[in-house]
Amino acid sequence: MRVLVTGGAGYIGSVVTEVLLERGHTVVVFDDLSKGHRESVPAGTPLVEADLLDGPALSQALAGHAVEAVVHMAAHSYVGESMEAPAKYYHNNVVAGLALLEAMRKVGTDRLVLSSTCAVYGEPGKVPIEEDDPTAPTNPYGETKRVFEHALRWYGQAYGLASISLRYFNAAGATDRNGEWHDPETHLIPLLLEVADGRREHVTIFGDDYPTRDGTCVRDYIHVSDLATAHVLALEALRPGHPLRIYNLGCGGEGHTVREVVEVARRVTGRAIDVRIGPRRSGDPAVLVAGSERITRELGWRPQRQALDEIVGSAWRWMERAKRRAG
Ligand code: UFG
Repeated sequence: MRVLVTGGAGYIGSVVTEVLLERGHTVVVFDDLSKGHRESVPAGTPLVEADLLDGPALSQALAGHAVEAVVHMAAHSYVGESMEAPAKYYHNNVVAGLALLEAMRKVGTDRLVLSSTCAVYGEPGKVPIEEDDPTAPTNPYGETKRVFEHALRWYGQAYGLASISLRYFNAAGATDRNGEWHDPETHLIPLLLEVADGRREHVTIFGDDYPTRDGTCVRDYIHVSDLATAHVLALEALRPGHPLRIYNLGCGGEGHTVREVVEVARRVTGRAIDVRIGPRRSGDPAVLVAGSERITRELGWRPQRQALDEIVGSAWRWMERAKRRAG
């Protein structure tokens, strides 16, 4: 299949691109490189460096490469930032997303896989969280993803757009080629590894008074290559007219507390990692764990790299390799 990956030069996008190519699909990366990295786009894969609001560039990318399906991953994705700057999130995640749908409609590209988030659920009423549970986002990031999912539902009904939305829990880890590389970094695992590497003094644990087994937040960490595989399965399942279907993507089980992640990072790196206890971060639910049975049942997806040691270890190995590459 000929696939346009928006945000394909970013962390998760680069791994999705990698897995699509491995499975024999043809990829065009569409990325404005505001967060992504040119180096993450494999040699031989076209990169269209443009904004989604650049209509001519987008139509040209879709029509010029005879694109059959889009994996839409270009978005802003920081919960905290979205609380400070909701306009930025509505602009990029909704306005630019709708521009993409319009361009697809114009050229007749009728299949889309969306990277969505567990942030659409807000503070869950129960765990594990299932796809039909209520959505009540507690921040503009989750809200903008929910708005876009709703657009997909209506576009499907009225225009026949086939779509699948994948609600990620906590993406983490790396492949041999691609890993997490944000500036500034806000995610727990890369921050811990930066401390292990001596690039940062300590990590502050955001609150240890949650009603969890050790007082710190529980999250469901999923290896980025398992996440990427789900996109390929979703793309291959999309038939013309397929109404919006939503799938959670996590490993389920008990999840991991922040303290457990710290211990794994210490064990995997063999280094001391200084952590301090700070106040809660606004908007952080106590527990986010996915029920992902629907995608297992319907698309045959099963995570292959669930062990947290394996997830953190892959990120550490990637970081070490990236350092060597940088000399
Ligand atoms: N944490 C710390 N200290 C830090 C950074 C994180 O204690 O310096 C904690 C957070 O409070 C949270 C856990 O580590 O409990 C994981 O935090 P991340 O920032 O790595 O990830 P989030 O759980 O905040 O974010 C994820 C996804 C978002 C999604 C969000 C939903 O990355 O896309 O879950 O809440 F929106």
